[in-house]
Amino acid sequence: MSNLHPALAVRGDLLQTPSPTTLDVQQQVVVSVAGDGRILDVDPVESDAGRSAVETADEVVHLDRSQRLLPGLIDTHIHAPQWPQLGTGLDIGLEQWLFEYTFPLEARYADPSFAQSVWQEMVPTLLAHGTTTAVYFATVHEQATLLLAETCLTHGQRAYVGRVAMDHPEGTPVWYRDADADAGLRASERSIEQIRSLQDPLGLVQPIITPRFVPACSDALLTGLGALAERTGALVQTHCSESDWEHGHVLERHGCTDTESLRRFGLLRRGTVLAHGNHLGDDDLRLIGGAGAGVAHCPLSNSYFAGAVFPARRARALGVHVGIGSDVSGGAHPGLLPQCAMAVTVSRMLEDGVDAATDAWRRGVADSRIDTVAAFHLATKGGADLLDAPLGLIEPGRSFDAIVVDLDRPLSALRAWDGIDNEARIFEKIVRLASPADISRVFVAGRCVSR
Ligand code: GUN
Ligand code: FE
Repeated sequence: MSNLHPALAVRGDLLQTPSPTTLDVQQQVVVSVAGDGRILDVDPVESDAGRSAVETADEVVHLDRSQRLLPGLIDTHIHAPQWPQLGTGLDIGLEQWLFEYTFPLEARYADPSFAQSVWQEMVPTLLAHGTTTAVYFATVHEQATLLLAETCLTHGQRAYVGRVAMDHPEGTPVWYRDADADAGLRASERSIEQIRSLQDPLGLVQPIITPRFVPACSDALLTGLGALAERTGALVQTHCSESDWEHGHVLERHGCTDTESLRRFGLLRRGTVLAHGNHLGDDDLRLIGGAGAGVAHCPLSNSYFAGAVFPARRARALGVHVGIGSDVSGGAHPGLLPQCAMAVTVSRMLEDGVDAATDAWRRGVADSRIDTVAAFHLATKGGADLLDAPLGLIEPGRSFDAIVVDLDRPLSALRAWDGIDNEARIFEKIVRLASPADISRVFVAGRCVSR
């Protein structure tokens, strides 16, 4: 046990996924956490170190045998301003959806009081779903963006908050865009400075440079944002090869794939989060892996907009970091556990194929399936690796971002049956069945932020 005095000790049973093929089960352990939220140690309850942690911690949380402690979920791609349309509008293709539904809604965030009314409702709701870290697209508005960062701090959610940059006269409507590349660059730079100036002793909130996607951005804006990333060291996020339309647009405009184009603009960097990536080829995946960037896999949204299934397993095999994203509101569910279940489901569809009129032996793509362990790994350690952040596992040196799931709550489908279920089955049930009502506590940086 570390000789640092723990501010918090959590005692109970732990489930986590250090690799896509490993379920780590640790029963009756004590997690001791320093005042800054860092995990000091994980020790057996019945060890000297474990006993000492429980005796000396400022606060002790005892979980019972029907509770499980798991790492918090990392949503690597979420559009905060689309919260009010979550659950609607998925009957049309991506481009039309943007212009008819999404840009008009996002334009409303010019009004800071509207923005605040959404953020203050959304952030605690996401925490209740177990999202301890969110990588947000905000809007083009600096003030709404800053208010989102402040709201995350108020509620204790870890977040990367990006002012959306978009200036292309054809790819955006005149009433929702940066006036020109220069205005967009200055606004993005100011937004980074504003977010970095917030009082944030635990380091929860960071800015992230956010060109919406190539179709919405002029070459001048993309060039400037690449230079801004180099100058400020801020991470980058954008959409990449999401749909046939988007992938085709970049091929036609720049004569290369989306990935290669982003690389030329200096936007393919360590920690760059590329949302969706359904149409990435192997060369693209190798480029992304080599750059230390990665993909936010958004399986539910992709089922509506992508025209393809993201090959998560293939991407990992080619060295790409992969996290899970809700893509609210393209993905019509706020929780990452349902997104994990969906990642498993779509991987089976990719492997087996979907059209019975095609012979079974050539209907699908071999070796594509992932299971709940792999999907949960993507939603925790995978996201942490993508962001290059010490999160995603409950082990010394990482931040104590965690959720407590209760089994056997009255009227919940999440039940553990004596003589039938073991820890592996309980884990599988948690991923597929746990709802916010089954998540009794959420910790970020050692603080209980939802219960
Ligand atoms: N591509 C550009 N903007 C968006 C967006 O808001 N959602 C999705 N899914 N794709 C996009
Ligand atoms: Fe998106």
